[in-house]
Amino acid sequence: MRVLISQEDLERRVQEMAEEIDRDYAASDRLICVGVLKGSVFFMVDLLKRLTVPLSIDFFQTSSYGSSTSPGEVRIRKDLDLSVRGRDVLLIEDIVDTGWTLRTILDLLRFRGARSVKLCALLDKAAAREAEVKIDYRGFEIEKLFVVGYGLDFNEHYRNLPFIAVLDGEESAEVPSPS
Ligand code: IMP
Ligand code: MG
Repeated sequence: MRVLISQEDLERRVQEMAEEIDRDYAASDRLICVGVLKGSVFFMVDLLKRLTVPLSIDFFQTSSYGSSTSPGEVRIRKDLDLSVRGRDVLLIEDIVDTGWTLRTILDLLRFRGARSVKLCALLDKAAAREAEVKIDYRGFEIEKLFVVGYGLDFNEHYRNLPFIAVLDGEESAEVPSPS
């Protein structure tokens, strides 16, 4: 296993992102931070602990990786509990890969009448993009490699690693399908 982004680098970048988000939402009293389960959880907790603006949190869970790689195949397995109508929504994701998951969720949030919708993603695999997605707050751009740790899994393993790593044997551009 090779460390791609160290714990220190993650902490520093998350702090910078939190400061930027705090400034941008300083005037908002209606922010909802929406995480996509399960991968975004570690990043979301670290980020939100550093925010001082008032906010609510909620979660989506979508279909697992492998079945979300083409348009129309993204399933919502757990929907939000809160209404987003008239709210400022900050969607928080671990990684944007093909972009299909985010494209679907962002469209849904706008359709439901959110006042504003922005995307905050820790990792951006830009070379893998198929659906256009604007990332308003981006942690790191990474190569088209399969990564684990800090919430990201391979068959539900490695989520609790405090850093982002590339698994041995995954150094090619081939992205394995874990399911
Ligand atoms: P999408 O292809 O942009 O729709 O990404 C779908 C989901 O696949 C992401 O939210 C992640 O949960 C997962 N995913 C994409 N790339 C990786 C990776 O390199 N490691 C672990 N999970 C990944
Ligand atoms: Mg995810």
